[in-house]
Amino acid sequence: MLVSTNVSYNIFAKYIEQEDIFNDKKTLSSSFIPQKISHRDAELNQMGSILAPALKGYHPNNIFVYGTCGTGKTICTKFIISHLQEIIKQSGKSLRSVYINCKMKKVADTEYRLFAQLLKEMGECVPDTGLPTDVLYRRFFERVDSKPSTLIIILDEIDALVKKVGDDFLYNLTRINQELKRSHITIIGITNDLSFRDNLDLRVKSSLSEEEILFKPYNAVQLRDILMERADGGFRPGVVSDTVLGKCAALAAQEHGDARRALDLLRVAGELAERAGEPSIAENHIDMAQQKLDMDRVTETVRGQPSQSQAVLYSIIKCQEKADNQKAWTDKRLLTGDVFDNYLAVCKAGGMKPLTQRRISDLIGELDMLGIITAKVISKGRYGRTRDISLAVKEEPLAKIKTLLQERFG
Ligand SMILES: Nc1ncnc2c1ncn2[C@@H]1O[C@H](COP(=O)(O)OP(=O)(O)OP(=O)(O)O)[C@@H](O)[C@H]1O
Ligand SMILES: [Mg+2]
Repeated sequence: MLVSTNVSYNIFAKYIEQEDIFNDKKTLSSSFIPQKISHRDAELNQMGSILAPALKGYHPNNIFVYGTCGTGKTICTKFIISHLQEIIKQSGKSLRSVYINCKMKKVADTEYRLFAQLLKEMGECVPDTGLPTDVLYRRFFERVDSKPSTLIIILDEIDALVKKVGDDFLYNLTRINQELKRSHITIIGITNDLSFRDNLDLRVKSSLSEEEILFKPYNAVQLRDILMERADGGFRPGVVSDTVLGKCAALAAQEHGDARRALDLLRVAGELAERAGEPSIAENHIDMAQQKLDMDRVTETVRGQPSQSQAVLYSIIKCQEKADNQKAWTDKRLLTGDVFDNYLAVCKAGGMKPLTQRRISDLIGELDMLGIITAKVISKGRYGRTRDISLAVKEEPLAKIKTLLQERFG
């Protein structure tokens, strides 16, 4: 039903009259593949030289690609593979490649799903469940060996795969070449978990890391160039100034030189400017974009935690509030014991089975690692050790997290 009010007719008027800020917003999304990749010549050349034997029908070594978030690992790998494929196609030969993002749900959760995904990507029809894993393995093997060629398997976010299915799977995959008669598999494993390799089985480590490529963080100047190219296609002329580009680049450079973060800042700043009816992006839009992105990041992290961790965090928030409200309470430190008492009450109210205090202490440690709280271990002499706990998120995200947890436990 259309309800008429005095203002309703002009709510949208200003948006209709407003000049568009964006030219092509897709250009600014992180899934967009740009025409040009800047400041990665060394890494692209290195990857190219390792894969070049495929041009002559020889088998390239496995490659382990690592570096922190947003340093261009995925985009460079995809770029080089499609380039290689194009050249091989021109020469009348063929190269098979399969890209798998192991973090995607229902893709690499189990060995079965991974083989099923590999087969699907190679054009075979496979049921989502039902067949024994070794039947799938056989079908995969036969499919790979059906013609003389190289198959490049890109396992992006490979750490997520190993966390879910262990590294036996990788061992089998790297050993498969010894059985293949006509073809060869080259694996490109990509990760932003810098300690991932240290925990691998030695045999897997040596075969996966036949070659290694490190992607270093971008500096502010490099990020500025990357942003400039994307902004050119993404925004209408005059919307983004040099100052704005420089500020986004500088902020992202401070945060591990992450190009995704720089692009997100610029895109969200554009959205905020558009929403405010401004014709161009100003510096304050970037500040607001940063706050918004931080808020989204923290809330998403909390949302993704298991219930028990969420219950612990909720207890910490409640305890902190109690301490803040009690003016007479001079020592406002929160200790593990305080949180545990509150946690028991939260469990009771929410019908959850409580864990032991020792387990809660571990969960507190994990929340600390995620940067949501700080929990300093302190010694209480012969009474053992405890943790001095405080919240580490700013006011706004905290309010959002509290609402989220209140809906769950309140
Ligand atoms: N050199 C570059 N030139 C142009 N765009 C780039 C460049 N490096 C990164 N980008 C862009 O930055 C974003 C992040 O890059 P990419 O996804 O390749 O990072 P990553 O290293 O794989 O990060 P993660 O470890 O988080 O997966 C993408 O949108 C990509 O298009
Ligand atoms: Mg990536």
